Amino acid sequence: MSYFQDKVVVITGGSEGIGKALVDIFLAEGAKVATCGRNFDKLYMLQSTHAGKSLMIQAADVSNEHDCKYFIEGVIKLFGTIDILINNAGISMRSLVKDVELDTLRRVMDVNFWGTVYCTKFSLPYIMKNKGTVVGVSSIAGYRGLPGRSGYSASKYAMNGWLEALRTELLDSGTNIMWVCPGFTASNIRNVALNRVGKPQGESPLDEKKLMTAEECAGYIVKAIMKRKRTIVLTANGKQTVFLNKFFPSLADKLVRRFFFRNNELVK
Ligand SMILES: NC(=O)c1ccc[n+]([C@@H]2O[C@H](COP(=O)([O-])OP(=O)(O)OC[C@H]3O[C@@H](n4cnc5c(N)ncnc54)[C@H](OP(=O)(O)O)[C@@H]3O)[C@@H](O)[C@H]2O)c1
Repeated sequence: MSYFQDKVVVITGGSEGIGKALVDIFLAEGAKVATCGRNFDKLYMLQSTHAGKSLMIQAADVSNEHDCKYFIEGVIKLFGTIDILINNAGISMRSLVKDVELDTLRRVMDVNFWGTVYCTKFSLPYIMKNKGTVVGVSSIAGYRGLPGRSGYSASKYAMNGWLEALRTELLDSGTNIMWVCPGFTASNIRNVALNRVGKPQGESPLDEKKLMTAEECAGYIVKAIMKRKRTIVLTANGKQTVFLNKFFPSLADKLVRRFFFRNNELVK
C-alpha cells in the first residue's frame, strides 16, 4: 500500500506547473487531494482529467485571508482532516527596484508569503493532530537575492524564515515542517510574472524545454515529504548558487549579476 493512501493532501495552486504535477502524483498514490487556484476553468479542466478520483477543487486566491479560511473549511467538511499541506501557489516579478511600483512588490508578498501564512494557520490544528507535514514551495531566490526579482526573493526569504521558526516551535511535536527550493523548472511562472506595473510580462526569457520538468520537480518534493526532510535544494545550478552564496558571497554577487544582465540591461 502506498505511504500516501487515503492521506488528505492540500496543495495550493494545483491547476498548473509544479502544483498540477503534485496533484497528479498524489492522486495516483491513492491520496485524497484538495487544490485551489484563482481561475475556476483551469481547475475544472484538472478535475475532468481525474474523473472518479478523490479530488476537491475550489476557486480561492491565497492572498485573501477569507478565501483561505473558506477553502480549508471546505476541505475539513469534505475529507474531515488534513495530513499534508503544500503551500505551492506563487507568482514572480520582473522589474528593477528603482522602477517597480510598490503595489507590485506588495502583491508578490501577499501571494507568496501571506498565502502561506493563512493556509498554514488554518490547517495547522488538523496537521498537528495527525503529526503530518507542512511544506513551503520556496525557491533558490529564498537563499540568494535575485536582481529584477527583489519582491520574489523577499517573499521566499520570508517564507523560509517563517517556516523555520515554526519548525523549531514544533520540533518535538511530531509535525514536520519543510521548505523545498526548486531551481529553474518548466512552467507558466515566467509568462505570468508581474512587470513593473503589476501586469503579466507575457514571455519567458528561458528556453523552457531545457529546464527541469514540473513532474520531475514534483517527484523530488513527494520523496522529501515521505522522508520527512527539513529542506531540499533542486537542480545542479540551484545547488551551486546556494553553495557559492554561502561561502563566497561577493563572487556570487558578480556571477548572479552576469547571469541576469546582458549589456547592463536586466534580462526579463
Ligand atoms: N517554475 C520555476 O522555475 C520555479 C522555481 C522555483 C520555485 N518555484 C515555485 O514553485 C511554485 C509553483 O510555481 P510554478 O512554476 O508551478 O508556477 P505556475 O506554472 O505559474 O503555476 C502557479 C499555480 O499557482 C496558482 N496561483 C497563482 N497565484 C495564485 C493565488 N493568488 N491564489 C491561488 N492560486 C494561485 C495558479 O493558478 P491561477 O493562475 O488560476 O491562480 C497555478 O495553478 C511557486 O511558489 C514558485 O515560486 C517555481
